[in-house]
Amino acid sequence: MDARNTLRQHIIVGIFSLILVLIFRFLMGIQWSTSFGRVSFILLSLVLLIGPLMRIVNPIHISSPLENPWSWRGELGIWFTITALIHFFIILSGRPFSELIKIGGSGYGLANFIGLVALIWAILIALTSYGKAIVFLGIESWKWIQNFTYVIFYLVSAHFIYFQFFSTYGDVGPDWFGYTAVVMAIAIVILQLTAFIKTVSKNREKQV
Ligand code: HEM
Repeated sequence: MDARNTLRQHIIVGIFSLILVLIFRFLMGIQWSTSFGRVSFILLSLVLLIGPLMRIVNPIHISSPLENPWSWRGELGIWFTITALIHFFIILSGRPFSELIKIGGSGYGLANFIGLVALIWAILIALTSYGKAIVFLGIESWKWIQNFTYVIFYLVSAHFIYFQFFSTYGDVGPDWFGYTAVVMAIAIVILQLTAFIKTVSKNREKQV
């Protein structure tokens, strides 16, 4: 990954994220914490759409992320973590942590706990996404850690599905974001499966 490109891409993704948050907050009247949570989910979805799309559309195997200057996944992933952290801190600022995750409480506590596990994984992945960390870990270990992005995706999906579809928090029942997010999540799963099938059939062709 080219360092100058990365800084430029960070600025672009950062500005894109901020503009989206401001649109949600001021044009759509969505509260700050929800705006950051939604933008965070959108950035995570982009990371996970690019991965399988690259495998389906461009079959050239990229062995090292350091040789892949056109990839935006690193920058999107880091801004996903930053916006998720802001989402968490805004929520935390209004009430004690013990109220958010209450043992013996309700689905609300479980949904928050799931969000927290996703956030911890996101921080771990973000910390290992820098050039020096990749060199230190080695490509294989780096790839292994990156695979947990899918775990984060399923955890975050459970988290937003709870708030949108199963909670009495705020307005009851899903809104446009709930339906859009479900469509994005389904698209990611389908692309993931398609990329997997393509990889399997390519491997079988090689064996024949
Ligand atoms: C990777 C981490 C996280 C992501 C991507 C994320 C994303 C989201 C999304 C997309 C929503 C749905 C907003 C809506 O209804 O449209 C949401 C709601 C919510 N999240 Fe998270 N979340 C994360 C972590 C957390 C954590 C750690 C907590 C607290 C422990 C938390 C607490 C909440 C609460 C209370 C809501 C409902 C109220 C609101 O929208 O502000 N989230 N989150």
